[in-house]
Amino acid sequence: MKKWDLTVNVAGVKFPNPVIAASGVYGFGEYYTDLYPPSLMGGISCKGLTINKRVGNPPPRVAETPAGMLNSVGLQNPGIDVFIKTHLPRLKKEANVIIANIAGDTPQDYAEIACRLDETDVDMLELNISCPNVKKGGAAWGISTEGASLVTKTVRAVTKKPLMVKLTPNVTDITEIAKAVENEGADAVSLINTLLGMRIDIKTRRPILHRNVGGLSGPAVFPIAVRMVWQVANAVNIDVVGMGGINSAEDAVEMMLAGAKAVQIGTAIISDPLAPLKIIGGLEHYMDINGMKRIAEISGTVRPH
Ligand code: FUM
Repeated sequence: MKKWDLTVNVAGVKFPNPVIAASGVYGFGEYYTDLYPPSLMGGISCKGLTINKRVGNPPPRVAETPAGMLNSVGLQNPGIDVFIKTHLPRLKKEANVIIANIAGDTPQDYAEIACRLDETDVDMLELNISCPNVKKGGAAWGISTEGASLVTKTVRAVTKKPLMVKLTPNVTDITEIAKAVENEGADAVSLINTLLGMRIDIKTRRPILHRNVGGLSGPAVFPIAVRMVWQVANAVNIDVVGMGGINSAEDAVEMMLAGAKAVQIGTAIISDPLAPLKIIGGLEHYMDINGMKRIAEISGTVRPH
């Protein structure tokens, strides 16, 4: 028997530990398996999937920032059918919980993808209504309670899979969006996706990113993510998965204290592919020095002043 119980439960799905690779940084696991088995992580959220293949935005589509990065990938992915035929069977053998992150132009697009995934081994759906880098769809659905409700309701009607909705921080009050998707049957919310940002090359006087603006991630956004996770966890009764600049086990603990049941690791994996394993090891150390047996106990236990 293991000394520490790292298991967590999100939306009725059991994860062996609370550390999940965030969508967009881990592809479908294919680039990392030489380094370590994906089964060491609690789960994987796959790159955002659309009905048809997308080549993504023209370059440049990443830019460095102090303590973070901007991305404007544009939901590059092979399309839902290739994922189901090619990537999912391999992932099923290699990974623990498999989360399919799905995106579309219209609510019907999301529903069609959800229908196709309903008959597969995917464990959970993550509705991406928060990608800031596409002309149609994406964050356009996540910035209003009406849009977020409509996509969630349309998908909820066609799937029995546990449904998590990934929220954008680019709104006035994220708790209103979280409550709206909870009301339409979401089982969990994940937050935060990236914050809209911009950089300009002072020599050329042109924006660095081809699409001018992109999503800011990395340690720079961490305090914003903690604040939003705390606000949302206090506003809804469904589970919350926290992400946004988590770089260490201490960050993961902080996010869980704010109310997250599990955490997703994004940008940290880009600079250090071993980051998830270091964070899992650090969580065990935290439990050891604090005399804890179950990591799940800390979720939402931030104390009032
Ligand atoms: O551009 C992208 O593919 C980013 C997606 C996201 O932030 O959800």
